[in-house]
Amino acid sequence: MPDLNDATRGRILYGADYNPEQWPESVWHDDIRLMREAGVTTVTVGVFSWAMLEPRPGAREFDWLDRVLDLLHQGGIEVCLATPTASPPPWMGARHPETLPRDETGGVVWYGSRNQFCASSPVYRDYALRITEDLADRYGGHPALRMWHVGNEYGTHCWCDTTAAHFRRWLRAKYGRLDALNEAWGTAFWSQRYDSWEEIIPPRRAQYLGNPAQALDFRRFTSDALLECFTAERDALAARTPHIPVTTNFMPLFIGQDGWAWAAEEDVVSVDVYPDPKDPHGGAYGAMIHDLTRSQAGGPWVLMEQAAGPVNWRGVNHPKPHGLMRLWSLQAVARGADGVCFFQWRQSRQGSEKFHSGMVPHSGEHSRTYRQVRELGAALRELGGATGTDVPARAAILHDWHAWWASVQDGRPSSRLHYEQVLRAWHQALWERNLTTDFAHPHADLADYALIAVPHLYLLTDEALENLAGYVRGGGTLVCGFFTGVADEDDRVRPGGVDQRLRDILGLRTVHEWWPLDEGETVTAESPWLGPFTGTLWSEDLETATAERVARIKGGELDGLPAVTRNAYGDGTAWYVSTLPEPAALRALLGRAADEAGVSPPLPGIPEGVEAVLRGDLLFLLNHGRSPAVVPLPSARTDLLTGRAYDTQVRLDRFAVVALAPL
Ligand code: GAL
Repeated sequence: MPDLNDATRGRILYGADYNPEQWPESVWHDDIRLMREAGVTTVTVGVFSWAMLEPRPGAREFDWLDRVLDLLHQGGIEVCLATPTASPPPWMGARHPETLPRDETGGVVWYGSRNQFCASSPVYRDYALRITEDLADRYGGHPALRMWHVGNEYGTHCWCDTTAAHFRRWLRAKYGRLDALNEAWGTAFWSQRYDSWEEIIPPRRAQYLGNPAQALDFRRFTSDALLECFTAERDALAARTPHIPVTTNFMPLFIGQDGWAWAAEEDVVSVDVYPDPKDPHGGAYGAMIHDLTRSQAGGPWVLMEQAAGPVNWRGVNHPKPHGLMRLWSLQAVARGADGVCFFQWRQSRQGSEKFHSGMVPHSGEHSRTYRQVRELGAALRELGGATGTDVPARAAILHDWHAWWASVQDGRPSSRLHYEQVLRAWHQALWERNLTTDFAHPHADLADYALIAVPHLYLLTDEALENLAGYVRGGGTLVCGFFTGVADEDDRVRPGGVDQRLRDILGLRTVHEWWPLDEGETVTAESPWLGPFTGTLWSEDLETATAERVARIKGGELDGLPAVTRNAYGDGTAWYVSTLPEPAALRALLGRAADEAGVSPPLPGIPEGVEAVLRGDLLFLLNHGRSPAVVPLPSARTDLLTGRAYDTQVRLDRFAVVALAPL
């Protein structure tokens, strides 16, 4: 199986989506000159070119793409060639309206934008496969080709009749008998029992609350249906070019795809990351996406898209202050990226993304942005030796899309509880302590981790519960967040409200009641270990069995009840956190658990705002702060980016990065 090394061959991939079809050919020569000057190695071509390649059904216009690929090759630029199947041409919707998705109300989602396809449509799939096969036949032997990029950010939804029939096939394969489906979906409730498979439809708009188990299965099905589209194209490519790796770019922490299942089908895992330059926690957010993507990949991965400056889809779109683009790019490399790419190469002059930045902005090559693009290219050239190396992590956060899907239903204790918000808060707390964190599936082998954090997994399968029990029994440290282990995989509430196995691990007798908190509402907790702190979002009427009380709630209805507990179980330790502690307290708590588990940052004495992460034998130090910081060094090292040697300390200006190699 080909992998990322086949594309990088010892260099960090550097480039962008390149959309030459938006420009006269005279500009293409200029593009290649500027790419060379910037140190661009690889561009992604053809992502949205379907209507140019197949202007009418079955027609093929490849000449322009031949010229683009030849020019790139002559210029020494390699190509990640996209299948254009994210955006069908208007003729497909006009001639085959059944390829257009329908929303929950039955309304048509029209062409005129992009992504207007029903993943279950055999007509769409057939056209998509044929253009993919023809691209592979034509360009599979092209010397510029290094990687395939299938589609773009799979994530469409459809509730049409074709989808309904496909959903029923999927359900029959899963349940076999209708009785089993009725049981799993709890259809005894509200007279929802199905008498024949034909009655079953996707969860369309209904009078009142829908069936949550049906909604959960529909999310599973939708992810699988999209994955079938991806694997069909991948197989067509792999059959023709078995030596060329295949990827598709994920959206960051995107709810619509089971990212574990998808990553397992890719040769290269890639992701698009767009933190808001104004977000003071943008660096933490990026780190979380990097860690998740590296974990999905099981090693190096590709940052397929980021913005050189502002995006155009936030309410107010902020440029990146000088140095931030470099900082966030090198952060990706530090956390395992072997590719740093952008959307897009040259900023468009037309279309709905004309105010989205590009590596070459409207202001051209004599711009601040392009200058920084060139500087980044030079920096990445120095880091080629890092490709293929690992980012060691002794802590992991458990994450599962199925648990996320189950948690987004209506009719739950609090509509203010958002899975990704809790995940982000916990990851940020670990990141701020410079504890490098992987993500892991709840069924994964956890033996190599000294610390496992479960911020919030509402749904835990039997296998996951046994896995956690075995992990802690064997000496692991678990820190478990609230409203976890509540449902089984059919979204059926576990006997007792929280699974007995989890309560045993945590040393809890019972959770009498959930006490979710309103906007602006807090609980106060006190703890000899952690000091006083407040919690938001959630609290619980909790009774311990064997667990010790690390923090208690002070005041209010739950006065005196445990907020944080700690339990010895087998050879290990299990903590429970029944609220969302304020950031400093969550940091202290996770830091304490990590200390006890023997998990430590890559070096001591790192000042606040500085990220320290090891990749292979390179120590990256990244200053996310706005003022200079000084980091003490235990031994002398050389910065690969500048060649400068440091003995006892490094001074980092705002947004500065060093990549320190041992002497
Ligand atoms: C991505 C997408 C790109 C471009 C970009 C703008 O989600 O894949 O095609 O639209 O956003 O930020």
